[in-house]
Amino acid sequence: MNAKKLAGEKAVEQVKEGMVVGLGTGSTAYWAVQKLGELVKDGLHIKAIPTSKSTEKLAIELNIPLVSFSEINEIDLTIDGADEINPTLDLIKGGGGALLREKIVAHSSKKFVVIADESKLVNHLGSFPLPVEVTPFGLDVTKREIQNLRCNTILRQSDASNIFITDNGNYILDCYFESIIDPSIIHTQLNMIPGVVENGLFVNMAEQVIIGYNDGRLKVLE
Ligand code: 5RP
Repeated sequence: MNAKKLAGEKAVEQVKEGMVVGLGTGSTAYWAVQKLGELVKDGLHIKAIPTSKSTEKLAIELNIPLVSFSEINEIDLTIDGADEINPTLDLIKGGGGALLREKIVAHSSKKFVVIADESKLVNHLGSFPLPVEVTPFGLDVTKREIQNLRCNTILRQSDASNIFITDNGNYILDCYFESIIDPSIIHTQLNMIPGVVENGLFVNMAEQVIIGYNDGRLKVLE
């Protein structure tokens, strides 16, 4: 049983006729977008806002109508994956590098539903390196300031000789903290550093987390 597919398809049950839907990024969100594509093909009317260029491409392939923020006031429901989920439903996101658009979309949503397989559940955030999107200008000084928060940083590469560039033209520093005990403090400290565009901590944002298990079970956390 594909746990990611299970969670993704379960979340899509909440999508209703006429909704504006935020489309997440990654291998779990992929299944939600695929399911939405099927429903649209069968006559469901929705409009969607993708959280990355890759999801935009997928949505276009599936004939899911897209809208921009200038055309809507609010997103009804966003469905997206996560890299880590703690017991209070705080998240690390950005493994795929889409954290900035993901956070803008989630923040603009009436309901933010996270989908994942059980491997994403943790007691404390931070084993997964925290992605931080930074401007190329001032990279070295921004990096030093981030390291002062007691973490090691690695500039994300797309391959051996190329720096990873986000959909917004920025870089990602993957930050290795020992453990993130208070995500809201680290979140604020990071975003106060000039040069930091956004960080991958999603604190107090997920209303619901749907976990898929390989044996076919589903768990809903709220
Ligand atoms: C992309 C993300 C993804 O949602 C996160 O990395 C989880 O991905 P996957 O579902 O492939 O495990 O935040 O920026």
